[in-house]
Amino acid sequence: MISSPYLPKKVKIVEVGPRDGLQNEKTFVANEVKISLINQLSSAGFSNIEAAAFVSPKWIPQMASSEIVMAGIDRMPGTIYSVLVPNLQGFEKALASRANEIVIFGAASETFSQKNINCSIAESIERFAPVTKAALDHNIRVRGSISCAMGCPFEGNIDPAKVGEVVRLMADLGCAEIDIADTIGIGTPNKIKAVFEHIGQILPMSTYSGHFHDTYGQSLANIYAAMEMGVSTFHSSVAGLGGCPYAQGATGNVATEDVLYLLAGLGIETGIDFELVVRSGNYISNVLNRPNGSKAGRAFLAKVALSAGD
Ligand code: HMG
Ligand code: MG
Repeated sequence: MISSPYLPKKVKIVEVGPRDGLQNEKTFVANEVKISLINQLSSAGFSNIEAAAFVSPKWIPQMASSEIVMAGIDRMPGTIYSVLVPNLQGFEKALASRANEIVIFGAASETFSQKNINCSIAESIERFAPVTKAALDHNIRVRGSISCAMGCPFEGNIDPAKVGEVVRLMADLGCAEIDIADTIGIGTPNKIKAVFEHIGQILPMSTYSGHFHDTYGQSLANIYAAMEMGVSTFHSSVAGLGGCPYAQGATGNVATEDVLYLLAGLGIETGIDFELVVRSGNYISNVLNRPNGSKAGRAFLAKVALSAGD
């Protein structure tokens, strides 16, 4: 196999479908389904699954059952089960639910910050400070997420320097990892490279993860571009589920199956079983009664059906 010296040998994929994927579903997804999906994904080999969100149920009703979900899953030894936490109220629940990692989530856009978490960027950092401290006091890993890093549905272009400012603030709080999120999937490889080039001067590239929504179909190209910049952690959602409730028109994250197919073709190790992920994507698409958003998943299932003579 030809392998590029510029690409990582190994990539960590954080499966965010159970949180980012399901949060936008209008109809309540049964807890047994959420739990089964997470268990299927941990069996497929993910070392990190974003499983739930302890946010206000008035803002995101779908995540209201996060305590039940976290109590019901089978914990795979070594797997990190992450939860979103916007404030201390959420942190108390994260602690009680034995989350391995909390995710504080801010934005590089003032308007998006107001719409998503009802405060300015500066206020969000003030709010995250005691949350991060409490988590670190309990030896819980903290990840920071920065929405609208490639552009904002309300403000349009976002200067990489603004992303850099929020990176510095989150790093000062004690975040071990920082997600660079293309919330509305508008980035293309040159924009991705410009942002990572800028923030690569602030923290080592190994601190960053790419969280790319696929609204404009650019995610795979963007992942490739980010890998060329030295990024080796990416978020994806099984069957391409998802969207952001506060970013009108934004579609799901890049589909996990498509990322796995790309990385396997590049000879990059992930430790994840492609076929098991395809089956869990098929499972959740059927339960939600929606088309499977993964092209690689659909192609694999069609091939299997064909060879079985269906
Ligand atoms: P607020 O209304 O300003 O908060 O919301 P508040 O402190 O005034 O509380 C209002 C009510 O919410 C109170 O209840 C609180 O108890 C309750 P009431 O007294 O009215 O009955 N409350 C909570 N309940 C449960 N758990 C909590 C909690 N906090 C307050 N943790 C707040 C501020 C941040 C809470 C709200 O705006 C919120 O929950 N926002 C979350 C929005 C969200 O989850 N968005 C989607 C996730 S982010 C995302 O998808 C982007 C990402 O994927 C990256 C990318 O793609 O860009 C990460
Ligand atoms: Mg997202």
